[in-house]
Amino acid sequence: MKKVTKVSSALLALTLGLTACSQGDAEPAKKETGEKDTAKKSEEVVKIVYARGQDATKATEKIIEEFEKKHPNIDVELREMPSDTGAQHDAYVTMLNAQSSEIDVMDLDVVWPAEFAQAGYVLPLDRFIEKDGIDLSTYNQGALAAGNFGGKQWAMPKFIDAGLLFYRTDIVPKDKVPKTWDELLAAAREFKGKGGTKFGYLMQAKQYEGLVCNAVEFIASYGGKIVDENNNVVINSPEAIKGLKKMVEIVKSDVVPSNITTFTEPESHTAFIEGQAPFIRNWPYQYALANDKEQSKIVGKVGVAPLPAGDAGSAATLGGWMTAINKYSKHKEEAWEFVKFMTGPEGQKISAIYGGLAPTIPALFEDKEVLEANPFFGEKGFVEGLNAAVPRPVVPNYPEVSEIIQINVSKAIAGEITVEEAVANMEKEIKAVLK
Ligand code: GLC
Repeated sequence: MKKVTKVSSALLALTLGLTACSQGDAEPAKKETGEKDTAKKSEEVVKIVYARGQDATKATEKIIEEFEKKHPNIDVELREMPSDTGAQHDAYVTMLNAQSSEIDVMDLDVVWPAEFAQAGYVLPLDRFIEKDGIDLSTYNQGALAAGNFGGKQWAMPKFIDAGLLFYRTDIVPKDKVPKTWDELLAAAREFKGKGGTKFGYLMQAKQYEGLVCNAVEFIASYGGKIVDENNNVVINSPEAIKGLKKMVEIVKSDVVPSNITTFTEPESHTAFIEGQAPFIRNWPYQYALANDKEQSKIVGKVGVAPLPAGDAGSAATLGGWMTAINKYSKHKEEAWEFVKFMTGPEGQKISAIYGGLAPTIPALFEDKEVLEANPFFGEKGFVEGLNAAVPRPVVPNYPEVSEIIQINVSKAIAGEITVEEAVANMEKEIKAVLK
C-alpha cells in the first residue's frame, strides 16, 4: 500500500513539475519550503522523512497511509532506526549534532525530551499548538509533561508504555496467573515445556535501556527507588537490594532462555509469538502483535495481567514515545501537519487499534473500536496502572544515569559484583553525574 502511495506521489510530483514547466514556471516541483513560505504549497508535493525505531506492528504503515490520503501534497518517507532505544538515541544525536536536515520528524523516547530540548535539537511546538488550537487539556497531563521543558512543549505525546505480564491462556489457567515474583518463578517452572513451549519466562536483560526498565520494576515492587522526588540518589537501600536480588535470581534461573542477556524487546516478543514461552514481560504492543495472524502462532491465546508483585506491590516502569520536529528540518510546516495527525486523536486511534499502543488521549480508552482491539484497555486497573507507572529519573543527562545502571546491573547479573556492591557503585556514580 505504502509503495503505491509513494509511486503515485512521485508521479504527481512529476506531473506537477511538467505542468509547471510547460507553463513556463521555473519553480521546481519539490521546492524546499521554508517556514514563511505558504504560497503554492497545496500544489507541491513535499517529502518529509519520519524517523522511528522498528515497528513490529502495522500501525506506522497505516498512519502514514491515512495521513497521505488526507494530505496528497505531503509524502512521508519512513526511516527505520535501530530498535534498541539507546542505539537510536545515539544515531539521532550524531545527526543532530551535525545539524543535519535529513530527517524532519522523529519519535523520542520519554526519557529524552529534556536532553534534546537543552541541546537545541528539536523545535518548540508551542506556536503550532497555538495556531491550530490544539486543546492540551485533552491529553494525559503526565505524558504531556514528559515533553515539556523550561516551560515549552518540545514533543507531543504519542503513546504511553507500562510493563505488563502477558501469558498464554491456553496453557496457564486463570487462577495460576502469578501475583508475586516468587509465584512467577514457580509458575514458569511448572508451565515450561507445556503446550510446545521451550522456556518459562521472557524478559529483557541485555545491557541496554530495557534492562533499566526491567530493573526499575523489580526495585519499585520491593519499595525501592533510584532517585526521590527531588532527584536525591536513594538507590542504596535494603528495598532496592531486595528487588535487584530477585531480578538476578530470575535472570540466572532455568526458566529464562540461557542467552537472556542478549534479549531486547524484539528477541523476547519473537520467541513469545512463536509460542516458545507461557509468560513474558513486555509493553502493551505485545498484545496486538500476539494477535496478528500474519506473524503470530498464538492468536487469541494471550492474557494480560499486572506484573508480579514484590513486598511493596506490583510496579510497572513508565515508558512511551513522543514525536518532535528536527530544528534543522527544511519542511517544518509539513512536519507539524504529520506530528499533529499522528499524535492527535485520529493517529492515536490507529496506533491503538493496529499497534496495541496505549493512547495519551484518555478519551480514546472509551472508544468502541479501540476497546474491541484491546479489551484489557477497558479493564479496571489498566488506566490506573498506567497513571501509577514509575518514571525513570527525569534529568537532561539521563543517558549517563542509564549507562551507570546498565553497567552495574549487568555486572551483578554476571556475578562480577554483588548486588550490594552494585547499588553502592550506582549511588556513588549517579551522585557524581547529577551533581
Ligand atoms: C519502550 C518504552 C521506552 C523504553 C524502551 C526500553 O520502547 O516505551 O520508554 O525506554 O522500551 O527498551
